[in-house]
Amino acid sequence: MKIWMIRLKCFAPALIWLCWICPTTAQQNKPAALPPMGWNSWNHFRDKVDDASVRAQAEAMVSSGMRDAGYTYINIDDTWEGERDAKGNIQTNSKFPDMKALADFVHNKGLKLGIYSSPGAKTCAKYEGSLGHEMQDAQTYAAWGIDYLKYDLCGLNAVMKAAPTPEAAHQIMIDAYIKMRDALRSTGRPIVYSLCQYGVDAVWEWGASVGGNLWRTTGDISDKYARMAEIGFGQAGLGRFAGPGHWNDPDMLEVGNGKLTLGENRVHFSMWAMLAAPLLAGNDLPNMSPDVKAILTNKDVIAIDQDKLGHEGTRVYSDGEVDVWTRHLVGGAMAIAVVNAGPDRVSTHPFHLDLAKLGLHGAQQSTDLWTGKDMQLTDNIPLEIPSHDILLVRLASPK
Ligand code: GLA
Repeated sequence: MKIWMIRLKCFAPALIWLCWICPTTAQQNKPAALPPMGWNSWNHFRDKVDDASVRAQAEAMVSSGMRDAGYTYINIDDTWEGERDAKGNIQTNSKFPDMKALADFVHNKGLKLGIYSSPGAKTCAKYEGSLGHEMQDAQTYAAWGIDYLKYDLCGLNAVMKAAPTPEAAHQIMIDAYIKMRDALRSTGRPIVYSLCQYGVDAVWEWGASVGGNLWRTTGDISDKYARMAEIGFGQAGLGRFAGPGHWNDPDMLEVGNGKLTLGENRVHFSMWAMLAAPLLAGNDLPNMSPDVKAILTNKDVIAIDQDKLGHEGTRVYSDGEVDVWTRHLVGGAMAIAVVNAGPDRVSTHPFHLDLAKLGLHGAQQSTDLWTGKDMQLTDNIPLEIPSHDILLVRLASPK
């Protein structure tokens, strides 16, 4: 007993030190343990984003209940950048008079601030990129209090095209992403690292190895149903590359944008949850309708997205225009999504859910996550799902 006490005394300082650094180190090495949730300026504001609109989003994120539902990041996309000063430090342009003050404002609301740059000389919108200034920019972001960086290949495309071989081009891209990863790490600040290069060279195979916490798997989304659906249903099979700390990113949400119907918004949000996708709202939060707010804050659907197992869902089978996806959840639970992707009403194409194809045997108790009602699924149950709408259920104990 005595010897143990003495040993404990000797190790106590080391233990205290370890306990002190462990959470910090773990946080630094593993931001985005769950798919990041927040808001990004691009889908709605494009180049019209400015300090005032970002503050308004942060305020609405709190007042709408989105922060309490799990949304954290307020991400400024392209067009915030100004010129570099004489020492090469990146400046904001006149739309953002004081980025540090904006970060303080956002942090005071219990939220985090994200920013955007490119490994090229210019960004997609032809603003200043980080090429040759990676370390300096990372230091600037950390000094401002930035918590998230979306790093968009765009400006490096021309450099890659001039490479003698595809392998050389690939290496240019890898090196560029590693350079910024190391620059971010050297700041000592946990900054989520979001790779944006539209899925080039199967980024899901190497994104995590260059430090990516998420990587875009596709070109840009739009607020049209066809484009959203093309991206969402095109993700099947990528799940094995994703997991806690490193996620496939099928692009930011268009929920509440364009002419998407409520059913289409439900399809979009449900599919992104099934895909363990980052949930970055892209609408104008202060002006969203109650219906859109209800979709973005549906806690049961968010819980599917944020399931701690981090196991991305996949398509199990299709029957005509109806797609059936499943996602395995923590504790043996399961989510099933049945989506009518076609333009016709399902009543003209009766659909029967084949539970055996999902590895299920006999009647299953489930909860419909959009109505909140209990639902018993029997084998070959006929389902009436309107065109461009979805049934999303959770099975607590699938059999
Ligand atoms: C690319 C990206 C978009 C957005 C714009 C900004 O198109 O894919 O998400 O960041 O650049 O210019």
